[in-house]
Amino acid sequence: MSERVEYVDAGDVLIPKLGLGTWQNTGESCTETVRTALDRGYRHVDTAEAYDNQAAVGEGIARSDVYRDEVFLTTKVWRSNLRHQDVLDSVHESLDELGVEYVDLLLIHWPHPRVPVEETLDAMAELRESGAVEHVGVSNFTRSQLQTARQVADVPVVADQVLYHPYKDQSNLQRYCAGNDVALTAYSPLARGEVLSDAVLERIGERHDRSAAQVALRWLVQQENVVAIPKSSSREHLEENLAVFEFSLTDAEMARISDHGGPLGVRLRNRLPSLVRHLPL
Ligand SMILES: NC(=O)c1ccc[n+]([C@@H]2O[C@H](COP(=O)([O-])OP(=O)(O)OC[C@H]3O[C@@H](n4cnc5c(N)ncnc54)[C@H](OP(=O)(O)O)[C@@H]3O)[C@@H](O)[C@H]2O)c1
Repeated sequence: MSERVEYVDAGDVLIPKLGLGTWQNTGESCTETVRTALDRGYRHVDTAEAYDNQAAVGEGIARSDVYRDEVFLTTKVWRSNLRHQDVLDSVHESLDELGVEYVDLLLIHWPHPRVPVEETLDAMAELRESGAVEHVGVSNFTRSQLQTARQVADVPVVADQVLYHPYKDQSNLQRYCAGNDVALTAYSPLARGEVLSDAVLERIGERHDRSAAQVALRWLVQQENVVAIPKSSSREHLEENLAVFEFSLTDAEMARISDHGGPLGVRLRNRLPSLVRHLPL
């Protein structure tokens, strides 16, 4: 275990509260980022079949000074592979690409409207039984989809990875996860860069001598059962993001960020139906 990170207790597994996101980081840049992150104290790496970087991630783990069994490695099965046999085949392909014998966590990347979640989870349980996968979870599942998954699964569903940052309310899902030994993993925790110059976060950061990015990440990891997986390919940002365990926010600061909702433009956009939200207004 790394001394630099804290952990979420998700029932039968401890998950490092800060992980490295790798979406859109490929090739040598990805390998070197993973290696650097692990050598600096990260113990959790997030990838996916769909990111086209599993070989690079695996190479980064191999190049680092950290033993494989000290790394919490997550991958995800894409929505075109959610039928029983496709799950088995695609996960074995992922393991080959990663160059590892198992992943710590396998997630269903997105729910599928036509493939019953039970079928996918059955295959994932089989992979767990065989040792190819240590734990299973879901991603982009609403609270009610997560409840259904937990009801039909023969194994614990230990995580739901969803969009979560200061402009995106997930308090309902967070309460449910905290009450049920499920980790809520926040993806795009920096709103893909949108929060970096936020005035409220900057003001709070000034009191602690921290950046807006650190305040956003701290707000997430300070919540019960919440894990954050910021992506960074910069050495300086990797270090900055890991330092979120070195300070804490007051209850008033936590509440201020929870009530924030973001700048007016973001608040308006979040109120629009999703189809309209994606039009270039
Ligand atoms: N399950 C899903 O469907 C799903 C969807 C999206 C993402 N994800 C996962 O979540 C991860 C993170 O989300 P994301 O990549 O969308 O966005 P993000 O982590 O919110 O933002 C990444 C951006 O923030 C910058 N950044 C990182 N740390 C910073 C710092 N301390 N100061 C200033 N800038 C900083 C990065 O630039 P630099 O590289 O220059 O630092 C990058 O441009 C992904 O990589 C992926 O693993 C999962």
